[in-house]
Amino acid sequence: MIIALASDHGGFELKEKIKEHLEDRGYQIMDLGTNSNDSVHYPVYGRLCAETVASGEADLGVVCCGTGIGISIAANKVKGIRCGLCTSVEMAHLTKQHNNANMIALGGRTTDENLAIQIVDEWLDTEFEGGRHQTRVDMLDEM
Ligand code: RB5
Repeated sequence: MIIALASDHGGFELKEKIKEHLEDRGYQIMDLGTNSNDSVHYPVYGRLCAETVASGEADLGVVCCGTGIGISIAANKVKGIRCGLCTSVEMAHLTKQHNNANMIALGGRTTDENLAIQIVDEWLDTEFEGGRHQTRVDMLDEM
């Protein structure tokens, strides 16, 4: 399982924590940047991570910016991407169970890093339910 990670400067430190945690869990990580606190543009990194997942180079993606909002908007513009912005463990559970989210977005300035790690773990450890939710996911993928 390969997980792609990307962030802007607002999510950089959180991305680094998530990277360390996922490597400890045994996942293969593709770190797509950014690599410092220097100001960059979140659409660049959201798109890069989303295209990496959509092309199959990575199985899943995690993106971080200050709030998670801008970078999730960017990711969701790429066909085949379902990026859920998560601010709670329940949202992480539901975005996999119902939306089969292949990416999640987190806010480095709005979500505590311990909660962010719990969110990532919950998303990874939850199964997609399928059934009626598959119909809706198919509708999303046709857009
Ligand atoms: C960058 O200052 C900030 O706007 C960005 O990280 C993010 O929060 C946008 O949604």
